[in-house]
Amino acid sequence: MAIPEHIHDLRDERPAHLTGAALDCVKTVRPGIAVTLLLPADPALLMASLNLQLRENLHWDVVEADGAWRVTVRHRADAPPVDVFALLAADHKRIDGLLAQSLALLNRGDAAAATPLLRDFAAALKRHVGFEDGELAASLGATQAAADEPPAVMLREHREIAQQLELVEEALAAGPADAAELAVYCAILSGTLAKHEYREEHNLFPLWRAALMRRGKDARDALLDRAKTRLES
Ligand SMILES: [Fe+2]
Ligand SMILES: [Fe+2]
Repeated sequence: MAIPEHIHDLRDERPAHLTGAALDCVKTVRPGIAVTLLLPADPALLMASLNLQLRENLHWDVVEADGAWRVTVRHRADAPPVDVFALLAADHKRIDGLLAQSLALLNRGDAAAATPLLRDFAAALKRHVGFEDGELAASLGATQAAADEPPAVMLREHREIAQQLELVEEALAAGPADAAELAVYCAILSGTLAKHEYREEHNLFPLWRAALMRRGKDARDALLDRAKTRLES
């Protein structure tokens, strides 16, 4: 289904007001809602700035014609991932969302409603960690990394995450789930995951992206395809 686009003509906007005006337009972008900006100058810096302000949730395409720039801005969720690391970052958000929904239900004392979500969360998290350990760490050299280097930090944190997830799964398996107990385990895991994902996205993935760029496009595309299959299965 085509996404409806809202068009905003900012070509006559005063330079001092352009960033604010563009931000007002693109902050309405959501999954399924795109906007188009008509701009008077190359939008590379402007779009990078807007994207940072909106937590890197934007994806955009630029077309230049007759001295004007037409920028179609979508939510990142509506854009195909550019590489395996963009896919993993999107998967972080999906996993975090499942845990946040579960935690909200547990904090209301509704363990019965949280249980199927937590099972989905646990399965998604295991697939994600399994892909990072089994595919990326193995082929991009985490096992030879020094203890304080990002690949070794990732492997260590995965072991910590697995231990914390085990507590959640044991509580789920023990019979009628105790919402308060589960909420404590989930809150601890949520904090651990937030720090881990930040370190991966900012320290490790840039290193691995550079290593992967030295390989051929076919190898990169094949890795992205395997990641899609593994994370969604
Ligand atoms: Fe990880
Ligand atoms: Fe990850």
